[in-house]
Amino acid sequence: MEITYKSFALFACALILSIWAWSVLNWVWLRPKKLERCLRKQGLKGNSYRLLYGDLKENSMMTKEVNSRPINLSDDILPRVIPLSHKSAVIHGNNSFMWLGPRPRVNIMDPELVKEVLSLNFNYKKPKSNPLVKFLANGLASHDDELWAKHRKIINPAFHLEKLKVTMILYEVLRLYPPVVQLTRAIYEDTKLGGLSLPTGVLVCLPIMRLHHDRDIWGDDVKEFNPERFSEGLSKATKKQVSFFPFSWGPRVCIGQNFAMLEAKMAMAMILQRFSFELSPSYTHAPVTVLTLRPQHGAHLILKKL
Ligand code: HEM
Repeated sequence: MEITYKSFALFACALILSIWAWSVLNWVWLRPKKLERCLRKQGLKGNSYRLLYGDLKENSMMTKEVNSRPINLSDDILPRVIPLSHKSAVIHGNNSFMWLGPRPRVNIMDPELVKEVLSLNFNYKKPKSNPLVKFLANGLASHDDELWAKHRKIINPAFHLEKLKVTMILYEVLRLYPPVVQLTRAIYEDTKLGGLSLPTGVLVCLPIMRLHHDRDIWGDDVKEFNPERFSEGLSKATKKQVSFFPFSWGPRVCIGQNFAMLEAKMAMAMILQRFSFELSPSYTHAPVTVLTLRPQHGAHLILKKL
């Protein structure tokens, strides 16, 4: 009898172990390779899947390397701020994907498709964040579905300021240096997006900064600081496309955007009333993303009292 119990226990352990081993194998290898085949069949290009890490190791090595030295004020900032994404676009073109560990993330560069993703908030959700992040910062930005809709409805009126005049200069700053350089969305069922069939498990990347720096959209002066491009309003400058979205777009657009614009204007007005300022020679141009885009060694200014 005892032997029977023992062998049953052994069998149960072996079964649990094999199920566990199968799900790990599926997670780290079989599923990523299946997703990769599906994306390549549709003409999307990217690095071959590398076990577990995908492109993450290469990304962190490149980031460390580019962050070790500043650039010139006239240099393109994309290779410094989003090095791997930039390299991938150069090698593979706009229809490309990157590996965030075992999950491929497809880049969406067509403003029409960006609009579709950002409109369908309940289909393209924010990827589940680490439970620790939720513990530290839980709120509207991390909620989804009904909980998000309920909280958004409650909070919205607090941010509903009178519509402000478009501030060309701030818009141009936000175009060239969007604090949030890209948005990521996850899908939880097979989804059609334009000509693409995205299988469950794929992530979608809306590379805000790359769209803001796209010559085809903005013209030959794309890299220049030219606030005049917004002189006839946002829709004229963007040709009514979702090609400028520093605060995101659609139902999940930044709830604090009017507040942020007002705050920036007030800060500028208060400084300009009292000081003139210029860039200090000690300033080194080194834009970097640490959650948001910022100057790696600070913004050195020389203020002169008026
Ligand atoms: C220049 C300043 C700001 C920029 C560029 C910015 C940008 C963004 C972006 C891109 C998103 C969408 C994130 C995503 O969907 O993954 C977002 C969401 C959000 N922002 Fe901002 N933001 C700014 C300032 C603020 C301020 C001042 C507040 C509050 C006082 C704020 C509160 C929020 C909240 C609560 C959300 C989540 C909205 C939702 O999920 O429904 N933001 N912001």
